Amino acid sequence: MSPGPTAPAPLWSADAIWAASTVHFPVLFLDADRKVHGANAAACALAEKLGHSGDPAALVAMVPDSDWANLLLHGHWRGIVRPSPTAAMALEIHCGRAPDSARCFMVMVDISERGERQRQYEELQRTVDRLASTQEQLLQSEKMASIGQLAAGVAHEINNPIGYVGSNLGTLQDYSSALLALVEKYHEALFSDDPAAHREDVQQARQRLDVDYIIGDLPNLLSESREGIERVTKIVQDLKDFSRVGRDQKMLPADLLQGLDSTLNIVWNDLKYKVRLEKHYTSLPQVECLPSEINQVFLNLLLNAGQAIEQRGTIVLASGCDEQDVWISITDSGCGIPPESMQYLFDPFFTTKPIGRGTGLGLAISYGIVAKHHGRIDVTSRVGQGSTFRVVLPIRQPGKEADTGADGAG
Ligand SMILES: Nc1ncnc2c1ncn2[C@@H]1O[C@H](COP(=O)(O)OP(=O)(O)OP(=O)(O)O)[C@@H](O)[C@H]1O
Ligand SMILES: [Mg+2]
Repeated sequence: MSPGPTAPAPLWSADAIWAASTVHFPVLFLDADRKVHGANAAACALAEKLGHSGDPAALVAMVPDSDWANLLLHGHWRGIVRPSPTAAMALEIHCGRAPDSARCFMVMVDISERGERQRQYEELQRTVDRLASTQEQLLQSEKMASIGQLAAGVAHEINNPIGYVGSNLGTLQDYSSALLALVEKYHEALFSDDPAAHREDVQQARQRLDVDYIIGDLPNLLSESREGIERVTKIVQDLKDFSRVGRDQKMLPADLLQGLDSTLNIVWNDLKYKVRLEKHYTSLPQVECLPSEINQVFLNLLLNAGQAIEQRGTIVLASGCDEQDVWISITDSGCGIPPESMQYLFDPFFTTKPIGRGTGLGLAISYGIVAKHHGRIDVTSRVGQGSTFRVVLPIRQPGKEADTGADGAG
């Protein structure tokens, strides 16, 4: 008996198909024409779940034609597909082609959760960005609010020199009329037939116009006026430095004591009637920082120190440094802070001041700024005696090698 026609050998071995049955993600065995020669239970279950009556062939259709052509050409393809444009499910598909080019396989991994995690991550990232920009706005509005709070004082500071420069100008106008009148007298005398006969007349005019006094007073008036203009220019400059803010500002080596003095200039009008000021400065190296933000910290601490002093008191400003860090301290002889408040000092909106006087943001914002500079604020205080706020900052920001001119004395 001649043997009958034998069935062609299966494309994929039973072992391979059995091995696939032991894994929990969908595996399909195909030929180069995408015909299914085997599929594991997970593939059939997925086809059922997607509404294809358990037919795994429907899964193969998810691979776009052009990508299948690529698979045949290069031997592998990987892509992420969604069963339908609106589906929440996302599948990562890996396709491979055996070296004989006839056999292909397809493995599918459900990455919906990964997609969800990615979406959550992106959402979180957007929230962080929004928070960063809100914080920046908050910083700017706190700055503007403190400028608003100080506006009356600053206006007064500017008004003062402007007042005396204005009055000096009036006096200078009178002086110049007198001097011009005298010049006229000299001119008349000089060009008369007998100049000597006018000597007495000129002398009397000189006395009447008080020219000797004018000559003595003129240099003072001019230098006082010039000083007044310089003070106004300085205050305006300090305000400009102070109100500058920006995401792209770079940390630059800066003179912190100069910043402290400029800031003091801005608040001085609020302090001068009740505060005796002492400065115990030790010169500091230039410190890598965002100067306008550090000035904001000084401003908040100076305002708090002033507000802690009810009637009259002292504010001591001091500085010091070692190899790595510099510090600036602001000590007041004010009311002090009760121990139970210490832990809340830097919390946003913690305030003991009446509504309208304090928002409780000054220290929270200062903390954020100093932390951004890798520094810290130390506080010591005794109720009834006063408080010291000490800002400690690294001379150079970590993660950067030595840079330009960081050791000039400030
Ligand atoms: N030098 C100080 N002496 C005594 N108490 C202080 C001093 N500095 C801060 N405090 C206390 O810490 C609280 C929080 O200070 P913070 O600067 O954050 O807010 P604020 O001064 O109340 O309001 P804002 O600064 O927003 O105008 C103050 O209300 C005050 O109770
Ligand atoms: Mg404050």
